[in-house]
Amino acid sequence: MHILHVVGARPNFMKVAPVMRALRASSVRQTLVHTGQHYDAQMSDVFFKQLDLAGPDVNLAVGSGTHGQQTGEIMIRLEPVVVERKPDWVLVYGDVNSTAAAALVCAKLGVPVAHVEAGLRSYDRRMPEEINRVITDQIADLLLTPSQDGNGNLLREGVAPSKIRMVGNVMIDTLIQLLPCAARYAPKKLPSQYALVTLHRPSNVDEPQMLRELISALQWLSEEIEVFFPVHPRTQRHLQELGFSGSGRCLRILGPMPYLEFLAMQMQATVVITDSGGVQEESTYLGVPCLTLRENTERPITVELGTNVLVGADMCRLRVEVEKVLNGEFKRGQIPPLWDGHASERIAEILISGITEAADVGVAA
Ligand code: UD1
Repeated sequence: MHILHVVGARPNFMKVAPVMRALRASSVRQTLVHTGQHYDAQMSDVFFKQLDLAGPDVNLAVGSGTHGQQTGEIMIRLEPVVVERKPDWVLVYGDVNSTAAAALVCAKLGVPVAHVEAGLRSYDRRMPEEINRVITDQIADLLLTPSQDGNGNLLREGVAPSKIRMVGNVMIDTLIQLLPCAARYAPKKLPSQYALVTLHRPSNVDEPQMLRELISALQWLSEEIEVFFPVHPRTQRHLQELGFSGSGRCLRILGPMPYLEFLAMQMQATVVITDSGGVQEESTYLGVPCLTLRENTERPITVELGTNVLVGADMCRLRVEVEKVLNGEFKRGQIPPLWDGHASERIAEILISGITEAADVGVAA
């Protein structure tokens, strides 16, 4: 059996690593294709190194562009690779442009596609990722969901139950594997209390007024506790456009962080403030309070069971929720079912044993 994995952006790398490792235990042949959607060393190479991923077999080097350019370029460059390499399965991960582009190429070539992290929905089509999720799930042949809500969403969209398998969360597989060594990567002299912030969604950082409000909320917050803000290149560009001068005494603006350094900061944080999907999940696993600067989430289980609170774009609400955390009033949360470090092994088993049996996927509560 030959499995070809397609990844392209930072959050894909921690998802593919444990799946490749689980498949290595069998005699499956594997090919790793990097689309090049993320290309900076600190957005890509450092993750390959820390996750112990061998360099990609193929790099499509598409780089940045508009959504149409980037998606189209990935399709044009990936198609001949799939034709030439003739995989039995192509695995795509998450919800980035590389995910949808690769699924579309394979569906048209009649090559079976499995979507890892299927079924998540924010029901907000202003998010490019939501379009990527819906398209990918409609054309994939095997939908590997991280949580029960994913199964319910897919069934409501008419996906055949026989294509759906709830396997758990592969990103948490990586977290569980690397947690024991992460503490060594914490910066020296961390304060006893601090907030860790990540922001990169277009809805938060592309709109100057919104970004200004966010920065002034962070400046307020930095008078309460120290704030560490590793900045995504997209956000960096917009901060420069605003003429934002950078770090203050207690507001530390940093470059994008490698996985282990970020995990080390996250596990000890007093509060995490984010608009990322993966960070909502990781903070739920770690039991760290998470305030999400979005109106909705495609990961509702982190709100229902975990430590996540949706704050939206309301900075007054953010201040109220931060105060609550600082007063010790926050959800302790619990770890969602099957976020147990073995999701990748379940995926490997399904791929190797075949997916002919109909699954009992149930319906989300
Ligand atoms: C993408 C994903 C998003 C994911 C995020 C994680 C889509 C639609 N979005 O968003 O779901 O949460 O990755 O980071 O796929 N850039 C660099 N260096 C890089 C990569 C990007 O400087 O290595 C800059 C470029 O200016 C680029 C911008 O960041 O135009 C945005 O990159 P892009 O890949 O288009 O989207 P992200 O915002 O990273």
